[in-house]
Amino acid sequence: MIKPSSNKPLLKSDLNNLPIGVFDSGLGGLTVVKQIFSRLPNESILYFGDTARVPYGSKSVHTVQKFSLQIVRFLQEKGVKMIVVACNTASSVALDVLKESTNLPVVGVIEPGARAALGVTVGRRVGVIGTTATISTGKYAEILKRIAPDIIVESAACPLFVPLVEEGWTDSPVTEQVARIYLKPLIEKRIDTLILGCTHYPLIKNILQKVVDSDVRIVDTSVETAVDVENILKEKDMLNTGTGQTHHQFYVSDFPQKFEEIADRFLGQSLPDVKRISLDDPL
Ligand code: DGL
Repeated sequence: MIKPSSNKPLLKSDLNNLPIGVFDSGLGGLTVVKQIFSRLPNESILYFGDTARVPYGSKSVHTVQKFSLQIVRFLQEKGVKMIVVACNTASSVALDVLKESTNLPVVGVIEPGARAALGVTVGRRVGVIGTTATISTGKYAEILKRIAPDIIVESAACPLFVPLVEEGWTDSPVTEQVARIYLKPLIEKRIDTLILGCTHYPLIKNILQKVVDSDVRIVDTSVETAVDVENILKEKDMLNTGTGQTHHQFYVSDFPQKFEEIADRFLGQSLPDVKRISLDDPL
């Protein structure tokens, strides 16, 4: 692996060959990796899932910022050309501090999701669902209103969705019932667009669509984030235009077996060798 910190100056082509660093609180960020794979097949990915400390969605701002800074340091030490914060919770509470901590381009999932919602809403009533931490920051509403002050935003925290998805209950009547309870206030407010503000929610998109009605447009932030990643790499002339040979690496902070088992569902393919690394260990 070529590291930006090595003594030899990096050629532009070496830099462009570096992987894109993607991180999440666990395995949910693989929904973003899946979209990057399909949009940018020449790019290598270096993924870190903080499986020892997941979930982030119920933790404090300070804690999520601290964990996120550690992970960005790890990715930077490993040698990446850009950082993608695939976790909605980390994007909501830590994006600004992460941008200040590194010279690398840093992309979160909130702004791409908000822009996409504004592109499809017809009635200017946007619903946002996410973890408790994501919703309590009000970050989606803030960005939506900054871009379009007339927009009406209705938000709901849906903390049970993450464990239900991780249990594999992605088409269970139990999940549908839970969705009906969580989404009732948004339906009553007549939202016409729904932002899936959590890495796990694309896996229950069918249930959510059924519950909110077929007219409501559902915005999958993972798709929009991959579009942003491509745009930034193009703009900065950092696309990997090499031989097309990719080398993906996956790291987790707890034992990798469960990650490997569930990853299939998120990524739609099995993973190469997943390595465990403790961020307390020397890199
Ligand atoms: N990855 C988190 C998110 O997108 C969901 C899981 C967690 O709470 O850590 O907000």
